Amino acid sequence: MNILVTGGAGFIGSHTLIELYKAGHTAVVVDNLSNSNPVALQRVAEIIGVTEIPFYRVDIRDREGLERIFAEHKLDACIHFAGLKAVGESVEKPWEYYENNIGGTLTLVDVMRGHGCKNIIFSSSATVYGDPAEIPITEQCPKGQCTNPYGWTKSMLEQVLMDIQKADPQWNVVLLRYFNPVGAHPSGRIGENPNGIPNNLMPYITQVAVGKRQELGVFGNDYPTPDGTGVRDYIHVVDLAAAHVCALQAIGRKCGMGIYNIGTGKGYSVLDMVKAFVKVNGVEVPYSIKPRRAGDIATCYCNPSKAKAELGWEARYGIDDMVRDSWHWQRQNPEGY
Ligand code: NAD
Ligand code: UD1
Repeated sequence: MNILVTGGAGFIGSHTLIELYKAGHTAVVVDNLSNSNPVALQRVAEIIGVTEIPFYRVDIRDREGLERIFAEHKLDACIHFAGLKAVGESVEKPWEYYENNIGGTLTLVDVMRGHGCKNIIFSSSATVYGDPAEIPITEQCPKGQCTNPYGWTKSMLEQVLMDIQKADPQWNVVLLRYFNPVGAHPSGRIGENPNGIPNNLMPYITQVAVGKRQELGVFGNDYPTPDGTGVRDYIHVVDLAAAHVCALQAIGRKCGMGIYNIGTGKGYSVLDMVKAFVKVNGVEVPYSIKPRRAGDIATCYCNPSKAKAELGWEARYGIDDMVRDSWHWQRQNPEGY
């Protein structure tokens, strides 16, 4: 299939491009580069062994720009990564988050249907479960109260896409609820490249290890977890990327509506991650215990068996692979791209 990949220059999008080409698909990338660097696309092309990947520096809120892309390419489906994702920033700038994420998706979906392209895979998040009613989280678990506008954009867009599919069953809509993506392509050529001080755990750890930051602050050690620190379902980004290829196969089978948790099903604490990083990579990661971070929950991991049963997807990489590949990327690219 020929796939429109919105946000394809970003962390998850760039890794997904590789898995798409490996599986025999082709892609057209649309990205406004608000949180990414075009060098990522050059490196993806090198890894795949093509001269370049068709790329449009276009904002998904730009209807004419999207129309031009659909006029120039025959597109079978869209994998929709484009969006703003910084939780703290979304609290400061809610309008910008709703306008970019929701406004952009509404324009995208309207242009898609105008061109008869009614297949979409949407990047959702475990954040839609709020403080989850059950652990491990299954897709039966009710959605919860999000603690920030970023999370609400995911929750609301899930509803928008479900309603569109219900009204017009020609649509195939797959919502992938990612747990905590980490790691990098094993080549070390592409990886996560946050702007400024990282919000998420793994890029903070790698920046401490490479000497860019002094120490990791561990946000709370009094949670009801085995060692008191927060437990999450970390998933290697290459596994996550592969889930999109499986979701495309489901779309090829005319799956209608599908919602899937994409995680490993294993929960690791903050200190588990630090210890694995130090053991596997032989580097020091100084840390100190800090107060809890507002909005954090104690434990979040999933039951990924629905994705295995219906998509034939399951995670292959473990915690040692995740910390090794995160470090490999950071060490080779201490300043990012
Ligand atoms: P990222 O910021 O690296 O990638 C998103 C890309 O979208 C960036 O390249 C950015 O420039 C682009 N973009 C943003 N707004 C745009 C617009 N209006 N028009 C065109 N391009 C635009 O983020 P990522 O980590 O690769 O995440 C991809 C998707 O997965 C996002 O929707 C994110 O919310 C979701 N997600 C990410 C995580 C995570 O931890 N990384 C977890 C759950 C869900
Ligand atoms: C966060 C977002 C979530 C988003 C997800 C993926 C919040 C409240 N939630 O999830 O909406 O979908 O990222 O982008 O921001 N930690 C530290 N020190 C740090 C950083 C993190 O101890 O410097 C801890 C956290 O308290 C948490 C764990 O590490 O227990 C993972 O944190 P993080 O990587 O930010 O992911 P989430 O909070 O799970």
